[in-house]
Amino acid sequence: MVSSDRPLRLAVLISGRGSNLQALAQAVADGRLNAQIVAVGCDRADAGGLRIAAEYAIPVVLRPRRDFPTRASFEAALFDQLAAYSPDWLVLAGFMRVLSAETVLRWSNRMINLHPSLLPLYPGLDTHARALAAGDAEHGASVHLVTPELDSGPVLAQVRLPIEGADDAERLAARLRPLEHRLLVAVCGWLASGRLVVGEAQIRFDGTALSAPLRLDEEDQ
Ligand code: GRF
Repeated sequence: MVSSDRPLRLAVLISGRGSNLQALAQAVADGRLNAQIVAVGCDRADAGGLRIAAEYAIPVVLRPRRDFPTRASFEAALFDQLAAYSPDWLVLAGFMRVLSAETVLRWSNRMINLHPSLLPLYPGLDTHARALAAGDAEHGASVHLVTPELDSGPVLAQVRLPIEGADDAERLAARLRPLEHRLLVAVCGWLASGRLVVGEAQIRFDGTALSAPLRLDEEDQ
């Protein structure tokens, strides 16, 4: 468990734009999040988020997958280097790689992922299009613990938004994005303050076992 007075040490993993990284870094800079982003891990040299890491002077661990012969050697290179920064938590924020069970278990109960759907609906890709094709009335995003099965770990918190008639996948993704940012910052804040505690046997929020995902309420948004 992390004591509530020292900043939570986060390593954020990205593959692309990095808008969630930016939301976290700005919340830290503004004093809204008692955390330090100790490193950014990335698997793509062309990821836009690398510019954001530079802007906030966050060390980068860049390990392009193609530089390594196997997934195991790639993951070892990336995660061993991130471990050297002693993060309390790894935050997968648009990191587009399926991780081996070995790596996941090594970071068991210390790694979260932001997923753009109301899990257990729509694990995997193309979540916005799938929600639209299903005729869903609402969509959303989830932050969950990472377990070996893809997008299937315990969901810590969710944010919802109504689907509108004018939504296509792109519009829906754009409407969801600011809510994803708030959700991720909120979850990291709860971990930093000790309100949210992830133990071996139980997840607790304000001392009570979590029986359903936390919901980001209107007033938190
Ligand atoms: C987000 O939509 C997140 O839910 C998904 O990947 C996207 C990352 O966006 N896992 P960004 O790179 O943080 O802008």
